[in-house]
Amino acid sequence: MKVLVVGSGGREHALCWAIARSPLCDALFCAPGNAGIAAIATCLDVAADDVAGIVAAAQEQAIDFAVIGPEGPLVAGIVDRLEEAGVPTFGPRQSAAVIEGSKGFMKDLCGRFGIPSAAYARFDEPEAAKAYIHRLGAPIVVKADGLAAGKGVVVCRTENEAHAAIDHILTEGAFGAAGSEVVIEEFLTGEEASFFALVHGTQVLPLASAQDHKPAFDGDEGPNTGGMGAYSPAPVLTPALAETVMDTIIRPTVAAMAEIGRPYTGVLYAGLMITPEGPKVLEFNARFGDPECQPLLVRLKSDLLEALIACRDGRLDRIKLEWHDDAALTVVMATRGYPGFYPKGSVIRGLERAEATPSVAVFHAGTALQNGHLVADAGRVLGVTARGPTVADAQALAYQAVDLIDWPEGFCRRDIGWRAIGR
Ligand code: AMP
Ligand code: GLY
Repeated sequence: MKVLVVGSGGREHALCWAIARSPLCDALFCAPGNAGIAAIATCLDVAADDVAGIVAAAQEQAIDFAVIGPEGPLVAGIVDRLEEAGVPTFGPRQSAAVIEGSKGFMKDLCGRFGIPSAAYARFDEPEAAKAYIHRLGAPIVVKADGLAAGKGVVVCRTENEAHAAIDHILTEGAFGAAGSEVVIEEFLTGEEASFFALVHGTQVLPLASAQDHKPAFDGDEGPNTGGMGAYSPAPVLTPALAETVMDTIIRPTVAAMAEIGRPYTGVLYAGLMITPEGPKVLEFNARFGDPECQPLLVRLKSDLLEALIACRDGRLDRIKLEWHDDAALTVVMATRGYPGFYPKGSVIRGLERAEATPSVAVFHAGTALQNGHLVADAGRVLGVTARGPTVADAQALAYQAVDLIDWPEGFCRRDIGWRAIGR
C-alpha cells in the first residue's frame, strides 16, 4: 500500500515511525513532514491545511490510504474531500470533527446526553457573558468556541480576569471567527488525564491513557503550550476509572454522535478531569494528541496501520491490540522563547548520540535541514521519547538522551512525569 500521513509535528513523526514498520506499507509519504520524517517517508511540499493541495497530491501519488494528524484539516472537511476523491482516509468527517471544532457543540452534546462535564453556558454578547460570570463567580473558565491552536482557553482566577477574557475574545476578536462565540464553564478541580479510543460508528476500541504537561516550565509554571511532555499510561486512570470513562463518557458520546446523524470515525481523544465526583470531560479532540501520540505509539506492539484501516472500514471488532507493559515518556525540547516569540534556524547537534540511547526514539516536531545542518524550525522542535518498566525508568532514559543533545537555543522541562513518579 501507498500511505500518506498529513501533518508536520512529533505526532506525525510517531505515526510515520509506526506505519513504516507495518508489513502492509510499501511506500510512505508525508505532507508536509519535517527533517526527521524525511528519513523514513517521502515528504510532499503541501501544507497540512491546504485541503485541495493534499487531495491533488494524494491522487497524483495514487495513495491507497491517508492518515490525518492535525485538527485544522479535519474540521475543514479533508476526510470528506479525500474519500470523495477515492482515497480511503483515517479520521472523522467534517460533520463529526465538530466535536473538537466547536466547544459549544461539544458542551450541548454532553448536556443533552448526560455526559459528565462542567456546568456551562454559551454567549455571543459580552454583557450577557459578564452577567453569567458574576452569577457563577470565580474561578471560572472562558473558552473561544472554535479552533484557536490551544490558546482559546482562559482559566480565570477572578471575575476581572474573566471580564478581560470576554473583552479579548468577543469584543476585540482576538481569535477571529473562532471567537465570535464563547463557552463559559464552571472551574473543575482534580488531576487531568487523557484517554484515547478508536471509533467507527458505534464500534469502540479503547487504546490507552496518557498525561500531558501543558505549562511551559517546571512545577507547572508559566504560560500554556501545546504540551511540553507526556507519558502513557497515566496511573491516575486506574483500570476501574478507565472502565468508568468508557461507560460514562466514551460509549455514550459515540452513541450520541451516531444518534444525531454525525457518526464518528477515527481516534477520539477525551481530555478529562478526574474530579472528586468522578471523571468529567474537559474537551474532545478529533485526533491523536501531540505529544501524547509519541509515548502512546512506542508502547503499541501491534500493527498500527492495520488498526487504522480496520477503524476506517468498520472492522474494529476484529482487532485485538497488544501493548508493551512498559511505560513511555516524551520530553519536548522547544526553542527558547516558546510559546511566545522565538527565532528559527538554530543548529541542533548530537542527535545521533541521543538516538543511540537504548529504548529511546527522538521524534522531530519542528526541524528542517539548512546547508546540511539540522535546524530548529518551530516552537516545539523534538520529542525525546523513551520506554522503560516504570515512568521513572522511562524518564531517566529520556533525560539521559536529552543531555546528549547539543542545542544551546533549546530548553525543556526537567520534571516530565512528576505526578506519576510521586504516586
Ligand atoms: P481544553 O483545551 O478545553 O482542554 O482546556 C485547556 C486546559 O484548560 C485544560 O487542559 C485544563 O487545564 C484547563 N481547563 C479547561 N476547562 C477547565 C475547567 N472547566 N475547569 C478547570 N480547568 C479547565
Ligand atoms: N497535547 C494536547 C493536544 O494535543 O491537544
